[in-house]
Amino acid sequence: MIEEAKNFKNFVSNLLESLSYGIMIINPEGKVLDLNRNLSFMLNIPTLDVKGSHYRDILNEQIAAVFDELLQDTKSMGFVMDRQINASVVGEIEVKMALATSALRDDEGKLFAITIVCREMTATQELERMRELSKLKAEFIASVSHDLKSPLTSIVGYADLLIDLAKDNKNESQEQFAHTIKDEGMRLAHMIDDILHVAKLESNSLQLKPEQVSIPEMIDEILKIVSGHDKKFKFTTHHDDNFPHLWVDRNQVKRVFFNLVNNAMKYSPQGGEIKIFARCFADTIQVDFTDEGIGMSQEELSRLFEKFFRVKSEATKGIKGTGLGLTIVKKIIEAHGGTVAVKSEPTRGSTFTVILPTRLITQKPEII
Ligand SMILES: Nc1ncnc2c1ncn2[C@@H]1O[C@H](COP(=O)(O)OP(=O)(O)OP(=O)(O)O)[C@@H](O)[C@H]1O
Ligand SMILES: [Mg+2]
Repeated sequence: MIEEAKNFKNFVSNLLESLSYGIMIINPEGKVLDLNRNLSFMLNIPTLDVKGSHYRDILNEQIAAVFDELLQDTKSMGFVMDRQINASVVGEIEVKMALATSALRDDEGKLFAITIVCREMTATQELERMRELSKLKAEFIASVSHDLKSPLTSIVGYADLLIDLAKDNKNESQEQFAHTIKDEGMRLAHMIDDILHVAKLESNSLQLKPEQVSIPEMIDEILKIVSGHDKKFKFTTHHDDNFPHLWVDRNQVKRVFFNLVNNAMKYSPQGGEIKIFARCFADTIQVDFTDEGIGMSQEELSRLFEKFFRVKSEATKGIKGTGLGLTIVKKIIEAHGGTVAVKSEPTRGSTFTVILPTRLITQKPEII
């Protein structure tokens, strides 16, 4: 019996020590029955050897006064939920804490102890502040992007008019200059769109709008748009029978597939075959985009999804881009609960693999 009681006592003190909160148990007169190391750290009590002492003798005045109030309320109400305090427990450093108590009564309802749980809130509040800041950043980028895009729209529009004018005047060099203005203007607009998109994805302010989508149909739609542009590619597609419709954000997933097909073409200057194979498994669907292009080394692969990363080599010289396409791909797929993987070898081509969970068939994905 004594052995059992000892074991139980050990169990309780191990339990107290394993908690990430600070805990103190006192009797109704305010004397300490037990406490854990976290509490002594949070409230700056130099030793754990304070059992039997009154809390007023071990806490600083400000916190002892809060304890006085807490105990009164606990005795009358039975518990106190998350009372927030700002305490300068260690020198000048102010720490935000939330205290909660509960009254322990015996079978006859007589109060025999009060537990006090102490949570450090500074990290939580810091997190909230970071979230707020990141939202502000996205709003700022959104408004700047908008202001940059309006003049760009007129630049591209007037460049179009100049092209027509130069054609009428049969002035080839003027026509070519106007084309350059238009192309570069459009490239800049595209870049602004991508920066804005990444900012939204990073601040979680992009709302997914899930709907039922046929992945094979989406692949066909994309190929219809791109295959007319460049005849040096042979596109091969395959999809498993009875391919399920998925609940995904159509525009976002289309953007992902478009980016991957666009990369396959852009980084295969010699042309070749581009295969898009869609397969379904028990819990996932998988779409592989394989090209026969310039490929990448292991070192390049390891940095591939970093913002603004572009391979700088003889093979990529003259190929334009911002280095945001794959960042966007990864973030969109992860927002749907999926993953993106890549295999590649220099000069032998690359395969990008998108995996999405099939639970997206029946369930809308978490809104990001
Ligand atoms: N299929 C591929 N084959 C070889 N290299 C690739 C392939 N896809 C991507 N890369 C390399 O990865 C880099 C990053 O690709 P990403 O799509 O993010 O940017 P980008 O194509 O340079 O610009 P954009 O933002 O316009 O897409 C590319 O610059 C290229 O070096
Ligand atoms: Mg790209």
